[in-house]
Amino acid sequence: MQTIDWLWILHPALAVVLIYPLIGMVARLGLQARKRRVDKAALPPTTGRDHADLGQWLASGVVLLVLVALTVVIATKEPPGAFVGGGSRALQLLLVLIGTLVSLLALWRVKAKGYRLVFALLTWAGVLGLGAQPEVWRLSDDPFSPAFWQSHYWAGVAVVGLMLFSLAARPEILRDLRWRRLHLAASVLAAVLFVAQGITGSRDLLEIPLNWQKPTIYACDPVKRVCPPFAPAAPTPAATPAPSGS
Ligand code: HEM
Ligand code: HEM
Repeated sequence: MQTIDWLWILHPALAVVLIYPLIGMVARLGLQARKRRVDKAALPPTTGRDHADLGQWLASGVVLLVLVALTVVIATKEPPGAFVGGGSRALQLLLVLIGTLVSLLALWRVKAKGYRLVFALLTWAGVLGLGAQPEVWRLSDDPFSPAFWQSHYWAGVAVVGLMLFSLAARPEILRDLRWRRLHLAASVLAAVLFVAQGITGSRDLLEIPLNWQKPTIYACDPVKRVCPPFAPAAPTPAATPAPSGS
């Protein structure tokens, strides 16, 4: 494994080690909060607050996880010297990345409804803006094709949107039953998308070759599922017969 390969497994490794265990905890505490409220189950009164506190970390973790994937994909597609658009485009993209991180930080801090909406939208716009770069692999951009619904990218940015919604609407979810129902519907969808991400992410991991294998593997035809034959190995000097008479 070269450094670039380690960079590429940073995102899957963070998802498996940090994000998925957190999803389990948040979902369990959410269900307990609901049982406590609807069925009046004898559960600790802290379940709701613990759920929302951990939920806040989960939502932010998912945004950071996706930013790691997008940054690695964009920065390593070509060697640094051959970066499409040169230094000025690299600087622009870096500013978008920093702006997205600042918006996420601001979303944690602001209280007013309008600001929460603005910073949630700005964070999502930053993720979508980086995701729209040509370096980022998207199975399909056509919602009418089945490939779009199997895309790790589109489900990923959708789940980021759902997490940002819950993060921004935390006070409303707590206070208002209609918002809580909306949160419940959004969370069920998010849970389905998280499962899908686990499957499509593992598929992508299987399909992406190691850096040193890329020139050969990318010469294959993925539609016909054939690869060009390997060039015959060059004869070694020992195997070459010595010229006669010498
Ligand atoms: C995997 C993601 C999540 C799932 C499955 C989930 C699920 C739930 C469920 C089942 C409830 C109970 C609803 C009810 O009482 O009818 C709930 C409540 C709540 N959720 Fe989430 N949630 C998730 C993420 C989040 C996030 C990211 C936040 C944002 C901070 C959040 C904030 C809240 C709040 C404030 C409540 C109300 C808690 C209370 O009654 O004290 N949730 N959630
Ligand atoms: C919380 C769940 C996850 C979300 C929201 C998410 C989202 C994303 C996004 C938006 C990208 C960039 C677009 C692309 O290159 O396809 C990406 C890349 C990728 N994801 Fe995920 N992902 C998640 C979990 C996983 C898991 C569990 C795996 C594998 C076990 C995985 C494997 C990959 C791979 C191999 C890439 C290619 C780029 C890279 O490795 O940095 N993802 N993901």
